[in-house]
Parts: sequence; structure tokens; C-alpha cells
Amino acid sequence: MAFHTRLMLGTIATMPATLAIAGAAAVVLSGQQPTARPGNVELTTFPAEWTYRPGGEAPFAGHGMVASNCALATEAGVEILKAGGTAVDAAVTVGFALAVAYPEAGNIGGGGYAVLRMADGRTAALDYRETAPAAASRNMFIGADGKPTDASLVGHRASGVPGSVAGLLALLEKHGTLTRRQVMAPAIRLAREGFAVDGIFRTSIEQNAALIKRFAGSALFLPGGRPPEIGTRFVQADLAATLDRIADAGASGFYAGPVAAAMATEMTRGGGVVTTADLAVYKPAWRTPLVSSYRGHGLIAMPPSSSGGITLIETLNILETWSEVAPWGSAAALHRLSSAFQRAFVDRNETLADPDFVKLPIGRLASKAYARELRRTIDDARATPTKALRPLTREGHETTNYAVVDRWGNAVAMTTTINSLYGSGVWVPGAGFFLNNEMDDFAVQPGTPNQFGLVQGESNAITPGKRMLSAMAPTIVLDPKGSVLMLVGGRGGPRIITAVIQAIVNVIDHRMSLADAVGAPRVHHQALPDVLEYEKGGVPSTVVDALAAMGYVTKPGGTGSLTAIMRAKDGWQGLFDPRKHGLAAGY
Ligand code: DON
Repeated sequence: MAFHTRLMLGTIATMPATLAIAGAAAVVLSGQQPTARPGNVELTTFPAEWTYRPGGEAPFAGHGMVASNCALATEAGVEILKAGGTAVDAAVTVGFALAVAYPEAGNIGGGGYAVLRMADGRTAALDYRETAPAAASRNMFIGADGKPTDASLVGHRASGVPGSVAGLLALLEKHGTLTRRQVMAPAIRLAREGFAVDGIFRTSIEQNAALIKRFAGSALFLPGGRPPEIGTRFVQADLAATLDRIADAGASGFYAGPVAAAMATEMTRGGGVVTTADLAVYKPAWRTPLVSSYRGHGLIAMPPSSSGGITLIETLNILETWSEVAPWGSAAALHRLSSAFQRAFVDRNETLADPDFVKLPIGRLASKAYARELRRTIDDARATPTKALRPLTREGHETTNYAVVDRWGNAVAMTTTINSLYGSGVWVPGAGFFLNNEMDDFAVQPGTPNQFGLVQGESNAITPGKRMLSAMAPTIVLDPKGSVLMLVGGRGGPRIITAVIQAIVNVIDHRMSLADAVGAPRVHHQALPDVLEYEKGGVPSTVVDALAAMGYVTKPGGTGSLTAIMRAKDGWQGLFDPRKHGLAAGY
């Protein structure tokens, strides 16, 4: 469809704010003049150069819905929903199925977060993030030259103690209804019987072959030095046996016995520091979910050790201080977004960390009053250099998201990761999975950028047993009446947070459909580097020029990729980001 219209909130159509900013021209998307309609409704579309056309339809299901980055994992979740499982049961199934069919990110060698809203209104948040092993130390990744080495990213020392298995099982035990064996059956089947290699799977291996080749996973993933051919069956017998042990014994099938021994042996062989003792003491943490609001809608978000929820809430609180919404895609809207991102990331990078180790000023960071203070530091006509910003508050001193809803109204948003694609590259021989390289999410040298360019502070320095700060942001949005409206989360490190926020703002402020809210071009600012990134083709050059005139350093850049579910009339719509792959399906 060449041109598609969306209804936008009434107040904005007549608002001349964009015209006033730094002499910026009115933003006219796709060369169309904003058309005032009776009732102050405005028409807009995406820029003509943007990759995705608006107006797409997200898949619909009347009862339950699963959205993930992996078709086989989504299908496994739907199988469990159809068999009478709840969203929690199906979410656990998807988690284990990802470990088999989406090893680049959804791996049992990693960790993650879950945000739940049960049909009866109860909420919960589970932190199953990896922890630093007991032998980890503050400067373990600093070389003789005083600079960070790449050992926090590649190889055995890069891994934190994996949390995925303990997390998925804790979720099932506390909030699920089916047995371990039932929810794990699809994953065990996929591992034991194999699945047909498709183009996505093959390409993922091909693109990461240099890393995989360095470790023991190459025998399975690069037989004869090449990725498996499309159409061949990919069987993972060792992983099937590992999953089978977990189904039999529970968490001790992974954290003790032969699987734990295999991990420890591989660590010793490769100079890593995770031991059987580290595995034996790993526990996921139930946290109190962050509950907030945005323009009358409820928000249920993930608290630390992820920064995702607090950074999202702080940003949305700042945006809410403008009572009128700036036109979507305008210089004014992007300036507000960037200024809010920048301030929330300054706080994130400096202040946030594992709450079991560092006292965090969560109440203040999440408060509307604090957002009003921050708003006073924003000049509507000028960018603020990040170096002029300091946290106003101090206290004492490759990822994949998925979402599941069921016919009863239970909702689960989860993000899981081994950090980079294929994690540290290290493979556990005999047990059949890759290990994470999550140690790089610590401030390995406070003040020095990590792989995502994040410059983080002392509070996130390495300490044994501590969880490294994350940006994962599985989030549940409620409508003004308190029913689940939307589940959203994503991959992309800090770009997860800014992508999730823009999807929420697109739905609430700009009344976009789910497909448009996710497909719309996005921007990103994470305080440092002090750069406003925009997706190529997604922001017209007139707007880029207007932002530059306001003092922003702008450049084309990437964004996170999302998966989301949204309530539709008589059911649900689900979506994976058109920027990536996946499947949303239900029944
Ligand atoms: O926890 C975090 O913030 C990162 N380890 C997430 C990594 C990520 O999203 C990679 N995705 N493609």
C-alpha cells in the first residue's frame, strides 16, 4: 500500500510547536500536508524512503497468542496453549524450545527476565539473570596495558553463571499448571528428532562461523567446516539428554550432576572460572515489579537487576510532562524523545546495578516529581550536551523477547539472552549448549564503553555473586480500565529500551496499530556517546537538519527489534519486528 493513514490524537493537529523549534520546517511525512479534519484529526504516514509501509495487519487469534523470534518456538508455545496450558506454561515451553531451535540467543547457557500479569490481577517479576562467579574480580578483564581485553566477550572467562534453567523452572513451579515433562516435551522432541534447517538458521550460523569455529560447537554447527545445508535435519542428541535430565530432576539436572560437571570441566580446560560450586548456589530472584502509568495507562515493568523498566518509566514520565503530544516523527517529537532518553540513560548508566549489592534510588527515579525536575532541564529549542548532565539523584555513593497471552487473560512478557549472538562462543561438550558472554554487561572498567557503547559507572563494577546490569525490558501495558493492552520487549542491548518506549508511545500517543507501532522508524539516544541515531530512511532530511540545528550530533544507526502482542477486538494481535525474523501465532 503506497499510502496509509492513521488517526492521531486531536490536540496535536493544530499545534504549531514544530514550526517554532529552531526554525524547523513543519514536518510533512511522505510529502503529504498534514490535513486538519473535523475533530482535529491529522493524517500522517511513514517517510517515503522508509523500508516498511504502514497499514500492515498483525496476525490475529481469538484465544491465546505467542510472539517470538523463532517460528518453531512459537509453534511449541501454541501447542501447549491448545492443550490447555496457561500463558505461563506456554512461556516456559517457548523458553526451552528457543534453547533448541534458536541457539544464537535463546539459550539455556544464558539468563533473562519475566514480567507477569495474571488473570486475577496479580503481578510478578522474575530475575534469572546470570551472576558473576565467585572467582570473578573487578579487574579481571583489564590487560597489562591498563585497557579492557576482549575476554569479557569471547571465550571461557566471559560467562556468568547461567540462570535460564532455574528461572524457567521457578516460573513454572510458582505460576504454571502443567508438569515439567509436559512443558518441556516440545523442546525435547525438537532436540531429539531434529528440525529442518531453514535459511534463517543457516545464515545465522554462517554469519557467526568465525566465533563458533574457535570452540567445540563447531563439530555440530559447522560439520566439515560449513553450516548445515537448508533442508537437512538438525539433531542435538546431547542437548536432548540435558533437557531430559532437567525434565526428570528439575534444576539439579542442570546445576548439579553430569551437566554441571561438563560445564565445570569445559571451564577448567579453557581457563574459565565458573565452578560446580557457583552452579550449585545459583538462584533466580523474585522481584517486586515496577508499576507505573503513562497517560492513564498502566505499566508493569522489570525492576533491577535490569535497567529496562526504570529507564522506560523515567523516560515516559518525562514525556508525560508535555500535556500535548507532538506530531509523530516531527523534530519536536524526536527532540523530546531524545532529551528524555538522554536523561534517563544518564541515571541508568551512573546509578543502576544489582539491587542485592547496591542501594538504588528506585522510588525517586520512578517518581513523576523527579520527571518534572528533569523536564525543567530541557530547553524546547536546544539539545543539551550529555556532559552537561549529571544524575540529580545518588544513593550512597543476543537476546530474544517473547510474549504469551492465554484465553483466561494471563500475560507473560519475557526476554532472554546469552548477550552477543552465540554468547562467548564456548560450547559445553556432552551437554550441548553455548555459554553466555554476559560479563561484558558489567562496567569492566567503569567509564569505558562496552560492546554497546554504554559507559557505565562504579555501581555496576564486577563483584562475585553480583548480577550485571541489563537493559532487557519485557513490559506489560494496561489500558485505562486495567486490562492488559500490550506486551512488548526486544533485543538490542540499550536499544531495547528506546525501541520499547517508542512502540508504547506510538500506540498510546499516536494511536497506531500494532504493526505500524512496531514497523515505524525509530531513533536512539543513550546519553553517551552523545549522538542521536536514527534509522536510515526513517527520518526526513528536513527533520535531521532541524535536529542538527538544535545542537544534536545525528547519524544513521540501528535500533532494537521487538516482539509484541496487543489486544484486538475479541482477541489478540501478535507481531515480530519486520526488522528480524520470527512468528506470531495463536488459536
Ligand atoms: O542484558 C542486556 O542488556 C544485554 N546483554 C542484551 C543483549 C542483546 O540484546 C543482544 N541482542 N541482540
